Amino acid sequence: MSLPILKFDAVVVGGGGAGLRAALQLSEAGVKTVVLSKVFPTRSHTAAAQGGISASFGNSEEDNWHWHMYDTVKGADWLGDQDSIEFMCKQATDAVAELEHYGMPFDRLDNGKIYQRPFGGHMAEFGKKPVRRACAVADRTGHAMLHALYQRNVKAQTHFFVEWMALDLIRDKDGDVVGVTALEMETGQVYIIHAKAVLFATGGSGRIYQASTNAFINTGDGVGMALRAGLPVEDIEFWQFHPTGLAGAGVLITEGVRGEGGYLLNANGERFMERYAPTAKDLASRDVVSRAMQVEINEGRGCGANKDHVLLKLDHLGAEVIDQRLPGIREISIQFLGIDPVKQPIPVVPTCHYMMGGIPTNYRGEVIDGIDEKIVKGFYAAGECACASVHGANRLGTNSLLDLVVFGKSAGNSVIEFVKTLPEHKELPENAGQYSLERMAKLEVEQGENIADVRRDMQVCMQQHASVFRTQKVLDEGVARMREIYERAKKVVIKDKSKVFNTARVEALEFLNTVEVALATMIAAAARTESRGAHAREDYPDRNDEKWMKHTLYYRDGQRLEYKEVHTKPLSVDYIPPAKRVY
Ligand code: FUM
Repeated sequence: MSLPILKFDAVVVGGGGAGLRAALQLSEAGVKTVVLSKVFPTRSHTAAAQGGISASFGNSEEDNWHWHMYDTVKGADWLGDQDSIEFMCKQATDAVAELEHYGMPFDRLDNGKIYQRPFGGHMAEFGKKPVRRACAVADRTGHAMLHALYQRNVKAQTHFFVEWMALDLIRDKDGDVVGVTALEMETGQVYIIHAKAVLFATGGSGRIYQASTNAFINTGDGVGMALRAGLPVEDIEFWQFHPTGLAGAGVLITEGVRGEGGYLLNANGERFMERYAPTAKDLASRDVVSRAMQVEINEGRGCGANKDHVLLKLDHLGAEVIDQRLPGIREISIQFLGIDPVKQPIPVVPTCHYMMGGIPTNYRGEVIDGIDEKIVKGFYAAGECACASVHGANRLGTNSLLDLVVFGKSAGNSVIEFVKTLPEHKELPENAGQYSLERMAKLEVEQGENIADVRRDMQVCMQQHASVFRTQKVLDEGVARMREIYERAKKVVIKDKSKVFNTARVEALEFLNTVEVALATMIAAAARTESRGAHAREDYPDRNDEKWMKHTLYYRDGQRLEYKEVHTKPLSVDYIPPAKRVY
């Protein structure tokens, strides 16, 4: 069956912060660009980033990008690529000033400068004391960013295909990327988007876990497509558990609460972070705080009837500060738990929040394959779906919004250069689109597995076998269980075979991406016999730089792993060598 073909210079898949920033760069340069988005762009998951975007303006106290770079390298537990980290931290102030000029309504100090709050792991003087580096729009920073970028794209005449889902990458005989297949949800029609360049900004995949701060749309679509196209995913064993997910609901309660002076308490009313991180306390980096909370719970000092959470106290900040700086989390807490934080502490637990790994790229946003980092022509990625790798084994809060705009713009610039070298589109392969149609047809056979059942089993398996603390036994059992789930996933079917707005079909296609990420995570985690950042092994409690200061590459073909070197050469400054990571 031949599919309708739509032609653009560039197709950006994903309408969140990274996609919008990339598209803006492209459209302003006159590159004919379309953004495909499963949801209206201002409803993308970037909206959930509450507390701020990091930039070392030093508006309240001394700061500079060297300290920011040091904190990011240390936060990443020395798995981050130092060229990418320098690139990001050095550009942060320009990136935020640009957003401000686009109309992003940052909170202000009395002198008119942007308001900044402290955030976990962001320190002054190379780790000595917390510093105010997070530029905030109350606790709705990501939401404000999306609106500013979307409006700017409308002005730049970016094309938007809203409620479209990309299905598969199209690669030609040279392995170059020449387009994607995509489903228009409203009609059920599959199209080929023929492009000179494809830029993925598809976000994370936090929905592999049962308890997640992530939106339902975070199903790992970009990683799934890249894996099916024969490309690897990097460092996928590293998943961030945000310390303050709302207990029982999973919704994010921003780290900005602790930035404003809130703190965690155990069942004895003890401010326990003082024991685990004497300098930074509740503002240690996220992996450290999440582990401390889990230890408190595991050792019987959790709160509530089931002793299964800790408390986030902020009533001492007063109603005025809470309403001015943290209105969103007050509303969330009241709506979901009936708890008003002006009067009572909020019950919180570590909750899956962020995928540190992703599609391997360099700091220019070009996708790279293999240990020799061969550039995949025509393919770019930015944001959470990509691994540049600035976050290494653990991301610092507020570095994700920064990552979106810095690498969105950088990838956009790389596409602009690339399309200049291609006067014409490369030809589509003869069978373009066939693979997607076959995948969709398989969902419509009469007998098979129920998606909801297999997806629940996957999420339970991830929660039980790849959580905050891990051991070989638990991970190996997880791999065996996940391989069975993966085989069942190949047999999922949908009962509703209609065309128009068939959400069952969309859910099935999303799940087939999610399960790829889940299996990759489990296999990569079982292989890494050390503790680093968010990958905490009880049986291997120490970091092992000699053996494991390496990036994991997982390939779907043969479910195999390769390892490549961490980039130890920054662009202009001295290398920051590994050191003990204390806060
Ligand atoms: O806690 C937060 O506001 C989350 C921010 C982030 O993940 O960067």
